[in-house]
Amino acid sequence: MPETAADPHSTNSADYHDPTVVDKDPYDVDIADFNVANPHLFSSDTLWPWFKRLREEDPVHYCRNSMFGPYWSVTRYQDIMEVDTSHDIYSSEPSITVGDLQEDFKLSTFIAMDRPRHDEQRAVVNPAVRAEQLRIFEPIIRERTREVLDSLPIGEEFNWVEKVSIELTTRMLATLFDFPFEDRAKLTRWSDVTFAIPGMGVIDSDEQRRKELLECLAAFTELWNQRINEEPKGDFISLLAHGSATQEMDPLEYLGNILLLIVGGNDTTRNSMTASVLCQNLYPDQFRKLKANQKLIPNMVSETIRWQTPLAYMRRTAKEDTTLAGKEIKKGDKVLMWYVSGNRDESHFDNPDDYIIDRVNVRSHLSFGFGIHRCMGNRVGEMQLRILWEEILERFDSIEVVGEPERVPSSFIRGYAALPVVLHARK
Ligand code: HEM
Repeated sequence: MPETAADPHSTNSADYHDPTVVDKDPYDVDIADFNVANPHLFSSDTLWPWFKRLREEDPVHYCRNSMFGPYWSVTRYQDIMEVDTSHDIYSSEPSITVGDLQEDFKLSTFIAMDRPRHDEQRAVVNPAVRAEQLRIFEPIIRERTREVLDSLPIGEEFNWVEKVSIELTTRMLATLFDFPFEDRAKLTRWSDVTFAIPGMGVIDSDEQRRKELLECLAAFTELWNQRINEEPKGDFISLLAHGSATQEMDPLEYLGNILLLIVGGNDTTRNSMTASVLCQNLYPDQFRKLKANQKLIPNMVSETIRWQTPLAYMRRTAKEDTTLAGKEIKKGDKVLMWYVSGNRDESHFDNPDDYIIDRVNVRSHLSFGFGIHRCMGNRVGEMQLRILWEEILERFDSIEVVGEPERVPSSFIRGYAALPVVLHARK
């Protein structure tokens, strides 16, 4: 195929993670050269006008070349919904992120599988997060949330991400896995390592990632060997070890599913917790509304998850030649559903850039996806945030953000490395 600018399947002019993108005005750049998967747009929080221009002028956009090769960006709410629910046309295999898997370290996980294997494996672990199980977890989560909040300094600066968001989500994960509580920091590390880009702070190389993830596999294999010899229980490892669709998994499939459950339950909820504090500061009128009416907490939680969109996109791969919003997508093309853009689509949400805790249609946000892969742990995440805010309002007058948040350099996980805050006690 000839390599011309007019041919959307050709490659030229890469901007391999060009850091200067943060100083550019997207309206001065040729739209054909857009590469919105550049992590610098996310670490600098300058992504918004780039996606706005795509929604307005080229809502299904082809990036001819990037560090990850060519890919399509789907940026409008309705088009994202169409891709996410058309499982026969768009596959979740081989990967749900834009980068390709390492040939010699192919992790297999049910989020990146199609039917029927996906449905069989999801059904095995789903009982750990069902409503009846959540009722058992609720008092445990509340007790741990109280413990963490009561240990915080009043009137002194600290990093909310480290002391609260990471600590609480890691405790929850240790509960879901029945993982040794004293070793729970390892879960945080494995979560951070899984999607980190080498050379951008967390790991230096893919080799280091592989080494650390094999340590994760060794730890979880030991737990599998214990659980398989015990009566079946409700935790993730016991469910996988005793489940008929998962008993025969090979080691990399077991590791892949463990990492899915670790990352799924960790980064996402952690970054929503941090965003919830940031938002109460950016929008003080909304915080006043919340304090005046605590019944708004569940809606505020949903609005935070919409506003933050902790997973910026999910990738699909076209199974056949198809058409989307007038664009011809070829079999094998990578298609990124940018939830972060769909959640700011003016045609679905009024004033989408604003944080409005009593927004009426907020529960139709895209942050949990739609279709057969819709987030399995959405109720766990929402419950953790609801309890956190019930307990915060009980204790503190406000949580003051006293510096700029430090954002994670990733275009997949929209998150925070640090948020400096000072707590003010209730008068
Ligand atoms: C605010 C919190 C969370 C957000 C924003 C979130 C987001 C997502 C998204 C976008 C997907 C993919 C949807 C798709 O492809 O259509 C997903 C899938 C998944 N999530 Fe979550 N998640 C959150 C919390 C959790 C928690 C707490 C857990 C586990 C305890 C979890 C476990 C999973 C699993 C296992 C999948 C794969 C489902 C499948 O492929 O069938 N998530 N999540």
